[in-house]
Amino acid sequence: MNRRTLMRGSLTLGAGALLAGCTDSPGQRTASQRSATPSSNTRPGSKVLLAYFSRPGENYHYGGRIDLDVGHTEVLANMIASAVAVDVYRIQAADPYPQDYEETVERNKREQESEARPAIAGALPTVEQYDTVLLGSPIWNVRPPMIMRTFVEAVDLRGKTIHPFVTYAVSGIGATVEDYTRLCPEATIGDGLAVRGEEVNAGAADVTAWLQRTSISA
Ligand SMILES: Cc1cc2nc3c(=O)[nH]c(=O)nc-3n(C[C@H](O)[C@H](O)[C@H](O)COP(=O)(O)O)c2cc1C
Repeated sequence: MNRRTLMRGSLTLGAGALLAGCTDSPGQRTASQRSATPSSNTRPGSKVLLAYFSRPGENYHYGGRIDLDVGHTEVLANMIASAVAVDVYRIQAADPYPQDYEETVERNKREQESEARPAIAGALPTVEQYDTVLLGSPIWNVRPPMIMRTFVEAVDLRGKTIHPFVTYAVSGIGATVEDYTRLCPEATIGDGLAVRGEEVNAGAADVTAWLQRTSISA
């Protein structure tokens, strides 16, 4: 933890991000995102941003259900942030997802079908200083949740290298690379990491290998 800077809720939206996300159609933005001002609340010299979404609560667990205090993707994000120097930004929904698993599945289905862009709570990070973005999420209905689209369309990721990381139950990385490739045509989508959610606590070796493979760590 000492090698990262937690940026949750503390960053504001840079002016450039107001104008250009990954795509030409930036989607919905909340009033708070629109009115946010540039911030210097980032660690000088840091080149890697880790941005992730994770949902605690009732979840799938080997065919049954489990109640998670900390989401699997957050566990994975913390492992990565403990291994390398990154700034961390947690993506949180302005309208939080239900505690109930089935209700969340239904809401996600509706959001996918309607091409929704669920609003993000609080301010977005300024991203100008980063070359690399580690973009983490669970897999929902075989792809990242729609709030990840909100994020990549709202911040300017052009010219950056995005390495996705996901936790999943059965689908592996699913359509993650395809989604980000389509949504972020001017970014480079690098090697991704997929860790089974139920086994995330045993994921350290996978994290190490991925960080080396992507040259994020030596
Ligand atoms: C709404 C919803 C949809 C899901 N859909 C899938 C899926 O299509 N494929 C899959 O492998 N896992 C699926 N899962 C399981 C999650 O990807 C998995 O439990 C993940 O580790 C949860 O991460 P989190 O705790 O950080 O949210 C789904 C979970 C939820 C809540």
